Amino acid sequence: MKKKVFSGVQPSGNLHIGNYLGAIRNWVEVQGQYENVFCVVNAHAITVPQEPAVLHAKTREVAAIYMACGIDPEESVVFVQSHVPAHFELTWMLNGITPMGWLNRMTQFKEKAGEERESVSTGLFDYPVLMASDILLYDADLVPVGSDQTQHIELTRDIAQRFNYLFGDTFKLPQALVRETGARIMALDEPTKKMSKSSESPMGAVDLLDTPDAIKRKIMRAVTDPLRGIAFDPERHGLFNLLTIYQLLSGSSRDQIESHFEGKGYAELKRELVDLVVESLRPIQERYAQIMAEPQYLEDVLARGAERASVISEAKLRQAKEHMGLL
Ligand code: TYM
Repeated sequence: MKKKVFSGVQPSGNLHIGNYLGAIRNWVEVQGQYENVFCVVNAHAITVPQEPAVLHAKTREVAAIYMACGIDPEESVVFVQSHVPAHFELTWMLNGITPMGWLNRMTQFKEKAGEERESVSTGLFDYPVLMASDILLYDADLVPVGSDQTQHIELTRDIAQRFNYLFGDTFKLPQALVRETGARIMALDEPTKKMSKSSESPMGAVDLLDTPDAIKRKIMRAVTDPLRGIAFDPERHGLFNLLTIYQLLSGSSRDQIESHFEGKGYAELKRELVDLVVESLRPIQERYAQIMAEPQYLEDVLARGAERASVISEAKLRQAKEHMGLL
């Protein structure tokens, strides 16, 4: 029996190389080893305001990017979260057993809500319970994500454990699958902060669909430090981040990279990184364009994905309802 994988990306903002290196690329790498379910989590996106037409288009865009990056919709289940109602239903059931205190501790909520705690949506607060439902419905063993999501996966385990304790064995306890390198790619213009889809500054993230010119502009202006020498020093946040991206895309070791850049400066590193990023994204962008040129194909993939996801999740939901006394 292959182990099961579940993961997802929100269709809000533009997907960037942090999403690729921290998540999607890792899904592709292990695709053959596991039974996979990859979801476009549009119900998570609506916890903050979204323009309906934009949300609809972005949802397709994210699914197309999964496939352009190498997710094979024949091998893996690819679907849109809101097409499978079990996610909403289980969320409500798990809300009944999740203490507010657990959600209050979520650092992502604290960061996102900030000073606006009273005015953000109830959904933003409850967001981790929806995420727990996503994962638990598919009996996922492993959840490949960037390091910003590990706390949510710990919470998922806590919720599953509590449900199992109260109502009998129902849910499998999942584990986060986080790579040591690339789990937290930093913003190019502010390298002490995470590269983010929702950042206001367009210079922070290289988007997966950026033109070569945009990639060049962003990388050449990336913030570094006044020190000399190219070395993997985690204290030199900007440089370390650029080198990490270089390492992941080139496949070279840290030693190889350091000796390659010996005696060279930032300008040289940045120029080479621009070429590497442009060349790494080119095939993804070409496949993306092909997929988007056939919208009916994409709709068919998502319809089939929703069918397959519904079969799995409905069975689990039914079991959970039965255990809770809801049938
Ligand atoms: P989201 O949409 O913010 O990000 C999608 C994936 O990209 C990773 N990631 C990063 N990795 C490295 N460096 C970065 N700067 C970076 N930014 C984002 C994230 O860790 C994530 O793996 N709550 C989730 C979506 C979700 C989900 C799920 C994930 C909903 N249900 C169930 C796994 C399982 C989120 O907002 O990811």
